[in-house]
Amino acid sequence: MKIKNICCIGAGYVGGPTMAVIAEKCPGVKVTVVDINEKRIKQWNDPDVEKIPIYEPGLSSIVKETRDKNLFFSTDVDKAIDEADMIFISVNTPTKTYGIGKGMAADLKYIELCARQIAAVAKNDKIVIEKSTLPVRTAAALKNILDNTGNGVKYQILSNPEFLAEGTAVEDLKSPDRVLIGGDIESEEGREAMEALVNIYASWVPKEKILTTNVWSSELSKLTANAFLAQRVSSINAISELCEKTGADVNEVAKAVGMDSRVGPKFLKASVGFGGSCFQKDILNLVYIARTYNLQEVADYWEQVIIMNDHQKRRFAANMVQTMYNTVAGKKIAILGWAFKKDTNDTRESAAIYVADYLLNEQAEIVVYDPKVTEEQIYSDLDYLGSRSGDANRKGVTVVKSSYEACDNAHAIAVLTEWDEFKQLDWKKIYDQMLKPAFLFDGRRLLEPKTKKEIGFEFYAIGN
Ligand code: UDX
Ligand code: ADP
Repeated sequence: MKIKNICCIGAGYVGGPTMAVIAEKCPGVKVTVVDINEKRIKQWNDPDVEKIPIYEPGLSSIVKETRDKNLFFSTDVDKAIDEADMIFISVNTPTKTYGIGKGMAADLKYIELCARQIAAVAKNDKIVIEKSTLPVRTAAALKNILDNTGNGVKYQILSNPEFLAEGTAVEDLKSPDRVLIGGDIESEEGREAMEALVNIYASWVPKEKILTTNVWSSELSKLTANAFLAQRVSSINAISELCEKTGADVNEVAKAVGMDSRVGPKFLKASVGFGGSCFQKDILNLVYIARTYNLQEVADYWEQVIIMNDHQKRRFAANMVQTMYNTVAGKKIAILGWAFKKDTNDTRESAAIYVADYLLNEQAEIVVYDPKVTEEQIYSDLDYLGSRSGDANRKGVTVVKSSYEACDNAHAIAVLTEWDEFKQLDWKKIYDQMLKPAFLFDGRRLLEPKTKKEIGFEFYAIGN
């Protein structure tokens, strides 16, 4: 089967970059990305490609090359579904905030809505692909909805989880470690559908890196990969606290441990805690599934990764307060970095939100600077947390346009995202602008402790 027309439902951090790269690599395929969010689609279509809604290094130039040639962004979901041979579902699956599984299970309402819409519109057979991270066995639910519409259309459901990391999405998509495709291996139609998707990726990914499995293995692999990565971060973060007590240096420990080829060096960077849309959500999902099957020990084992991460964020903020003579009330504190990591404007589950919230509860005055995150987003993150009124958040937090502005007359600085530009700052100049004693809290181990102490900062870094 040769695919000519692809539709992707959801123009977010996953759907946008993934479809842009498919469009670039498969010029003979028409790719349409649809979203119900009109503002988002308008931004994707902005004549100035630097204004697309998602910041990822390298993305805007691909969009510039392919947009309106074989890559289209639209709000006409029905039309795109109707025309497509292959439909990717890339809508968000946040953690449920209500009902059974609240705070743990994934909220599948957006997925279900998509399935119903596909069922209502489709007139010919379709391959439907789960791209969003979904709990194991979601494909079965999707299939049920699609198969029970009675209009004779046949669907093949594939799972093709996304392994791209934000900030390096384009690079990860262009040369992935592997591509995983789960499908109904048992049936001829299932194998054909998988083959069709394999062929899309084979346009640029070596065949040996494209794995085909059954659907459940594919779904569970995604959760497991993220759980393993998050576990490494929580493990090194747990050790960072011990380092602070004993005088060991967590970077030195991480280096020594990571040089063991069985462990490897990646994902051992101690931090103020991991953030992002995947790690916490996927682990909570894993925990929820384990509990559903009554696997208490399995659930507790993975839940500890989250507990450790929450502890790390709180510990960092508590440490700030304690170091500043147990009170930050009325003190101006600069937060450098709001995104959950560098090179993205995504702030979902960013440690900065929790640290700021803690400090606001202590009545600190917060000033934030992030190179890519908008003021609107920062307030909306705090409002979403719901600790205080929107007015109180706007009163307590100011958003500024440079690091120097943020640090002017501040008592303390908290570095919460490892943006490269923070490494280039003139820290002596910043120190001179601050109230003394000036405190510097490094949640990303960005700065050399020695130089900061030389300048005169009261210095604290995670695991130091
Ligand atoms: C992750 C997975 O890496 C990706 O494969 C999956 O598809 C989606 O989830 P992402 O959330 O974009 O990607 O970012 P990632 O680079 O994994 O970082 C997650 C968080 O962990 C960030 O807050 C990051 O700063 C933190 N982290 C990462 C550390 O604190 N220390 C590390 O050593 C690595
Ligand atoms: P991710 O990081 O998984 O890509 P995002 O929240 O960035 O998550 O993107 C998901 C997108 O899916 C959002 O832009 C949202 O508007 C869109 N979406 C959700 N439900 C539907 C739907 N039923 N039809 C079309 N788009 C949808």
